[in-house]
Amino acid sequence: MTTHKTPSSAHGSDRDAVGFHRSWFPVGLAQELEKGAVTGIDFLGTRAVLYRDPAGNPVVQSAWCPHLGADLSIGTLVDGQIRCAYHHWRFDSAGSCVHIPTGDKIPPGARIFTYPAAEAWGIVWAFNGEAPLFDLPAIPDAAEPDLIFEARLRGVRHVANWVALSNGVDFQHLRTLHNLPVAATPDTIDVRDDAIEYRVETPAFLQHGRISGTSTFGLHLRRAEEDSFMLFTGAPIDETRTRSFYVVGVRRSPQEVDPGAATVARLQALRDFVEKLMAEDEPVLNTMRFRKGTLVAADRHLARYFKYIDEFPRAPATLDGRP
Ligand code: FES
Ligand SMILES: [Fe+2]
Repeated sequence: MTTHKTPSSAHGSDRDAVGFHRSWFPVGLAQELEKGAVTGIDFLGTRAVLYRDPAGNPVVQSAWCPHLGADLSIGTLVDGQIRCAYHHWRFDSAGSCVHIPTGDKIPPGARIFTYPAAEAWGIVWAFNGEAPLFDLPAIPDAAEPDLIFEARLRGVRHVANWVALSNGVDFQHLRTLHNLPVAATPDTIDVRDDAIEYRVETPAFLQHGRISGTSTFGLHLRRAEEDSFMLFTGAPIDETRTRSFYVVGVRRSPQEVDPGAATVARLQALRDFVEKLMAEDEPVLNTMRFRKGTLVAADRHLARYFKYIDEFPRAPATLDGRP
């Protein structure tokens, strides 16, 4: 779905926005978000609370109680509603205050900002905006039922996520940093409002990559007739730190419900490969002081990526109502 233009056209109100990009961001591992539990995360320079509604759907909301600003992530779920620990005001999964124990009339401003949220690829996602502008990130050429996959938390990186994400179109570093001589550079990349995609195919090799929003790089790689699928994603903790996650997947055979030993081994090998790539990237990413420096002709896809990032809509810094 392509629904937005550059900030200055379709999102005139974004012109003054200095907040984070209007993108889907990963906020947690789906399997760690247990029903009945409440967790808090530092997210987008502020704080969010995560839980599941009675139907099991993830809910991601501003963690700041509109009464006196207590952190709702130390609250409790009561009848599917989040209850502030301090004076027990309660909020529903749409963010409305639904109960004040003193019996006072509920003030109209007693609301918590509720991010659009969804679950996919073992990850809980939240969109930084009132409504999603595009579809959830996905892995190219694969649907969840086709793969045996696993999602993991990688940890905190000391770099803005959109800087780390430039890896997805930095074809030179595949040879220099990662020593992958087989890696090819596509002639062209397809840049849309909310995604960048490319495909390079040779008889020995396929590389189909897609950057989605400003959080996620999904890749379908085929080497030696073996398909592997991966997704690298991260959410801003603040302007300089990112909480990063990854997913690895291999195809399942049609009869394979629980993965067989061969599939487990393929998945393990892919995880080792991906973790090696990340271990090579991270010393660079965690210490670089990014600037758009002296670019050369070989950097043309990177240059296009930085333009895409510059034009990407941003939400107001105060989207969640904090001062
Ligand atoms: S601060 Fe949350 S109910 Fe008072
Ligand atoms: Fe890399």
